[in-house]
Amino acid sequence: MTPKTNIGDMFDAENFRTSGHALIDVLADQLQRRLTGVGPVINWKSPELEDQHWQQPLPQQAIFNADDLINKLQSDILPDSLAIHHPRNMGHQVATPLPMAALCDLVAALTNQAMAVYETGPSATMIERQVIRWLSELIGWKPTITKHINGILTSGGAQANLTALLAARQHSAKSNVWKNGIADHKLLKILVSEHSHYSISRAAGIMGLGTDAVIKVATDIEGRMDVTQLQHLHQESLIKGEHIIAVVATAGCTPTGSIDPLLQIGQYCNTQGLWLHVDGAHGASALLSEQHRQQLDGIALADSVVWDGHKLLYMPATVSAVVFKNPANSFAAFAQDASYLFQGENHETEEFNTSYRTLECTKRMMGLKLWAALSLYGVEGMALLIDEAFAKARLFADKIQADQAFELLMQPQTNIVCFRYLNDGLDAENLNLLQATIRKSLIESGAFHLTQVTLHGATWLRTTLMNPMTQASDLDALLTSIKQFAKN
Ligand SMILES: Cc1ncc(COP(=O)(O)O)c(C=O)c1O
Repeated sequence: MTPKTNIGDMFDAENFRTSGHALIDVLADQLQRRLTGVGPVINWKSPELEDQHWQQPLPQQAIFNADDLINKLQSDILPDSLAIHHPRNMGHQVATPLPMAALCDLVAALTNQAMAVYETGPSATMIERQVIRWLSELIGWKPTITKHINGILTSGGAQANLTALLAARQHSAKSNVWKNGIADHKLLKILVSEHSHYSISRAAGIMGLGTDAVIKVATDIEGRMDVTQLQHLHQESLIKGEHIIAVVATAGCTPTGSIDPLLQIGQYCNTQGLWLHVDGAHGASALLSEQHRQQLDGIALADSVVWDGHKLLYMPATVSAVVFKNPANSFAAFAQDASYLFQGENHETEEFNTSYRTLECTKRMMGLKLWAALSLYGVEGMALLIDEAFAKARLFADKIQADQAFELLMQPQTNIVCFRYLNDGLDAENLNLLQATIRKSLIESGAFHLTQVTLHGATWLRTTLMNPMTQASDLDALLTSIKQFAKN
């Protein structure tokens, strides 16, 4: 029998302490098991069948106490989660989060700093500004020790890209689009690589430009934007009387991890007066690494950069930065009149009120975990993670190339490796089907998590090697399992 609920118990600090210790014990045990590869990567169950277990009546009274909750987590919920820290988890670009950063997220949850304006999150605001200054310094923009900060943290790279493109449009369009709408601006376009993330065309849709406003630039065999084609398409667009609001370069494109030639693109954009946005959601973290940062040469020429912490900065989701070279542009995306929140009208007065610059009003205190990680491990420590992930991708590529059963799509530029199992007896369509079937079987077996991507009609298996626990033996085991599954 669970006792009747009372408000005092709901907020009891001692209960919180006791349950908190018990919960951390459960999580630490699970972390340990997963780091050492105990159990499946995914406890695969059909979503249709699982859904039937989550159709309970709405509880009118308590149905369990805190201990029951922890037991439920331990018995059902945690075992049925994707084992992100498992060495054989090689699927999406989702960080294996640093445990200390996860603890910071608990602080964010309990203190619940709404962050819309300074007074709803004084220290949270300051920490966020500190993080933005650090990221800007890594990009190569002069550290802003002045009052004016040049960006914000927001929930996810998709939203960060939208924010940057709204700013780009407001900056480049000939009149105030925020206020007057786009009726007078039918020909606003965005130039972007064919491998750009879908959030760019989705942003075009949201912004009322229509997804057809996104002009796709072809890539070379290494998946990088072809700069000659970019120039050609830009000139063609000028002849048609179109107005390019931004060129979007991708640093670490989603399908292959390729990094567009930022220096060449930046030089072209700068001479043509084009806004350059770099979607570095995945790859901007290479800036931390002495070994790999030269791949991002030219990023400082950008007008705006997006950088996800919950990818290669090893943060729990979500924390994404959108930063602008010119601090004034950080106000360009949104211009709101809400006297219940903002008492000032100008940027000077609203400098410390983050919601002037974000889509979000209430916003999680997401800078804390990033500030903590950079403080605990420094750039050098965080770079170890990048170097390790990129080296593992190269090692895996070498293993694939050395095995005649497989074809490697391209040498990895970051930590994403695409490859396929070969079978001479199959036509193109069935070879594609085989990759998809192998992947499905591997996931449903619980042995590995990996993804797939279709490029120019060919389906490739895709691994994102960002789990520091993955060893060479796990990569060998993946190739062996693929061969076995293919034979079966
Ligand atoms: C290049 C790129 N940009 C943007 C995004 C979207 O980021 P988020 O999932 O944080 O919204 C992704 C996600 O994979 C990405 O790879």
